[in-house]
Amino acid sequence: MLRPVLQYPDPRLSQKSEPVDGITEEIRGLVQDLKDTLISIGGVGIAAPQIGVFKRVVILDLSQARHDPDAPQELAPLINPVLTVLDPAPHEENEGCLSVPDFRARVRRPRRVALDAVDLDGKPVHLEGEGYYGAAMQHETDHLDGVLFIDRISYLKRSLYDKKLKKNRKM
Ligand code: NI
Repeated sequence: MLRPVLQYPDPRLSQKSEPVDGITEEIRGLVQDLKDTLISIGGVGIAAPQIGVFKRVVILDLSQARHDPDAPQELAPLINPVLTVLDPAPHEENEGCLSVPDFRARVRRPRRVALDAVDLDGKPVHLEGEGYYGAAMQHETDHLDGVLFIDRISYLKRSLYDKKLKKNRKM
């Protein structure tokens, strides 16, 4: 089921999500809703808190790692993901977010990371990635800790965006 995506500055986007303690019907339903919502809106990933469910679940489109624009979507549910930095050298990607409308910015993060999670069968999943894909892994796990990409840009850029948003809301 398609679910509405929370939009910044909704304070719930800053809420920390709880670990999943079992693959229940509720979690399966959540994964399906996240997939439906991501397919409908488009994007490389989505995290459960973006649809107002504060559980540590994200979906990533693994086809994005292959640098092949024609690769079919491969939406992987990642439950209780844990991020490890493999190469801390700073790297910048141009990021956007389904929850941050009409804004993109370059965000500096560690260059290469690994992500360990379980899938819907409770089987371990291990992913490694860098560049755009590595940034996506970090961006989505950030959501589970209530962190948005705009929390990781300069104060100046952030305040310009906040001003623009306020102006648009008045119109
Ligand atoms: Ni996002």
